[in-house]
Amino acid sequence: MAKKLPAPLCRRLEKAARTAARASYSPYSKFSVGAAILAGSGKIYTGCNVENASFGLCNCAERTAIFTAAAAGERVVQAVVVYTPTPTATSPCGACRQVINELGPSAIVISICDSNERLETAIDFLLPHAFGPSDLE
Ligand code: THU
Repeated sequence: MAKKLPAPLCRRLEKAARTAARASYSPYSKFSVGAAILAGSGKIYTGCNVENASFGLCNCAERTAIFTAAAAGERVVQAVVVYTPTPTATSPCGACRQVINELGPSAIVISICDSNERLETAIDFLLPHAFGPSDLE
């Protein structure tokens, strides 16, 4: 059974992910995404998706948030909340699952949207048998 975050902390992360989506730069897909990370220090970092006219260079919200946290010196991801302004919740893409696993092999992953639908799971469920840092030891 995956860990659970305390409800007030969860609410803060959810609010941060919703706010982050407002900065989404997604002129091509028109699909806004916001993410909030709970880092090892207990600080919250946020990110949005940032698209590019060269489509392959689009960056997802989760990776924007994790790279921002890593650049601030964080080395642990405890939880990731993804928000999309849609009727159904969106689970992180495969690339983001790999990036979450790097710093957060035990991370809680929560997806929220504009309905009551909500997904709450753990990265080892979303990315079983992951390739990770220990494979390079
Ligand atoms: N996107 C994310 O930001 N996170 C995901 O987990 C799935 C997809 C973004 C990438 C792109 O800007 C848009 O959503 C459509 O794929």
